[in-house]
Amino acid sequence: MHVSVIGTGYVGSVTGAGLAELGNIVTFVDIDQEKLAQIRCGKAPIIEPGLEEIIRKNIAHIKTTTSIDIAVNETDVTFICVGTPSNSNGSIDLRYIKSVSEQLGQTLKNKKKYHTVIVKSSILPSTTDTIVIPLIEKKSGKRAGESFGICSNPEFLREGSAVFDFFHPERIIVGCHDEKTRRQIKKLYSSFACTKMFTDIRTAEMIKYASNAFLATKVSFANEIGNICKKLCIDSYEVFKGVGMDNRINPHFLRSGVGFGGSCFPKDVNALIRQAQDLGEKPRILSSVITTNDRQPEKMYSLLKKHVSVKGKTIGLLGLSFKPGTDDIRESRAIPLIKKLQKAGANIVAYDPVAMTNLQELIPDIRYAESPVSVLQSDAILIITEWEEFEHLDYSGKIVIDGRRVEKARNEAKVYEGVCW
Ligand code: UDX
Repeated sequence: MHVSVIGTGYVGSVTGAGLAELGNIVTFVDIDQEKLAQIRCGKAPIIEPGLEEIIRKNIAHIKTTTSIDIAVNETDVTFICVGTPSNSNGSIDLRYIKSVSEQLGQTLKNKKKYHTVIVKSSILPSTTDTIVIPLIEKKSGKRAGESFGICSNPEFLREGSAVFDFFHPERIIVGCHDEKTRRQIKKLYSSFACTKMFTDIRTAEMIKYASNAFLATKVSFANEIGNICKKLCIDSYEVFKGVGMDNRINPHFLRSGVGFGGSCFPKDVNALIRQAQDLGEKPRILSSVITTNDRQPEKMYSLLKKHVSVKGKTIGLLGLSFKPGTDDIRESRAIPLIKKLQKAGANIVAYDPVAMTNLQELIPDIRYAESPVSVLQSDAILIITEWEEFEHLDYSGKIVIDGRRVEKARNEAKVYEGVCW
C-alpha cells in the first residue's frame, strides 16, 4: 500500500518506518524541513533503538514532503501523527490536529479516489467525531464513510522500545464506522497476528486514555503502598513481588519509586481529568494518581534532608531522563527535584548518559558532569533514573537516596534510603 504519515515525531517516525519495513511505500510529511532531510539521509529524527536501521534499510521506499496535498494525492491512506501538547490548565492543545484536518479537507475536495484517514495522535474521546471529521467534511464538501474513510487507531508504543512494540503489538485497536475503512485497515495490518479489536471511534479513543490512566494508577498505587511500607520498615519490592503473583493483578507497573514521567502518562491523565470535569464529573481516583505522583520527589527530598543539611552542600543526581533508554526529559522527576534543591541553595552536579543536552536547555545553571564518577564525589547522591550503568558504580562510603532501586547502591552505600523501601 502507499501510505502517508503526517508528523515525524516519535509516533509518526516509528509507524512510518515500521510500515515501510512491512513492504509499504511511505511518504513522510512534516513542516520541519530538517527532520525530513534527516530521514532522506537515512537518519532517525529521534533517538529510538532500531529506528535508524529500518529507515536506512527501506530508504528506497520512503519519500518526504512538506506538502499534505502532494502526500495525500500520491497515497491511499494517511496517518495523522502530529503532537497534541498540553495547555497550562491540563487540557489538550489541538492546534496541529485542527490545522492538519483542514488541510486534509482541502486536499480531499479535489481527490477523486477514496482516501482513508487514520488518527494516531492521542486525542480525547469524542475529538475525532466533533472536531476532526467536521473540519474535513467542511473543507472537502464530502461525507465521512462515503467519499473518504476515517478511523481512530491509537498507539501503545513505549519510548525506548517503540520499534519492538510496533512489530509485536499485544493488540491493535481500531475505531471506525464504515465497512470500507475496516477492510482497508485489515489489509494494512494483515501481517500482524495479534488480536485486532474493531469498535467505534469514541471507544477506541477512550481505550487509549483508559489504558494509560490505568498504568499510571498502578504506579501511583504502588507508590502509595510503598510510602506506607517505608514507614513500617517493609520492603515494597518484596510486597509487590508477592502481590504481582496474582494473575488478576500481574507484576507489571508496580515498581514503586520517585514516580512516573514522560510524554504520555502525566499529559493523558491530566487531559482526562480536565475532560471529566468539563463533563461535570469529579474524577477522584485520577486526581489522586497525579497528586501521589507529584509527592514522590518531595519524599526523596525529605529523606535527603534527614541525612544532610542541603544549603551549600553538593548534591549529585544520577539520571535525568524520565526512564532509562531515552533522552526524553519530559516530566522527568529530576526537574522538580532540581528546582527544590536550587531553592534550598544546594550546588547541583548531574549526570545522564544521553539526556544532559536536553535538560541543559531547560535548566542551564547546574553543573553537568562528564561521567558518573564526579557525581559520586558529592555530599549526597540522588538516583532518579535506573540506567544499567548505575549498577556498576562504586557506592561504598556514600550517602545515597534511591528513587529507582539500584541494587548495587542498596548493598554498598554507607547511608542508603529507598523512597519506598
Ligand atoms: C507509556 C505507555 O507504556 C505506552 O503504552 C504509551 O503509548 C505511552 O506511554 P512511556 O511513556 O514510553 O510509555 O513509558 P513507560 O515505560 O510506560 O513508563 C512511564 C513512566 O512510569 C516512567 O517514568 C517509568 O519510570 C514509570 N514507571 C513505570 C514506574 O515508576 N514504575 C513502574 O512500575 C513502571
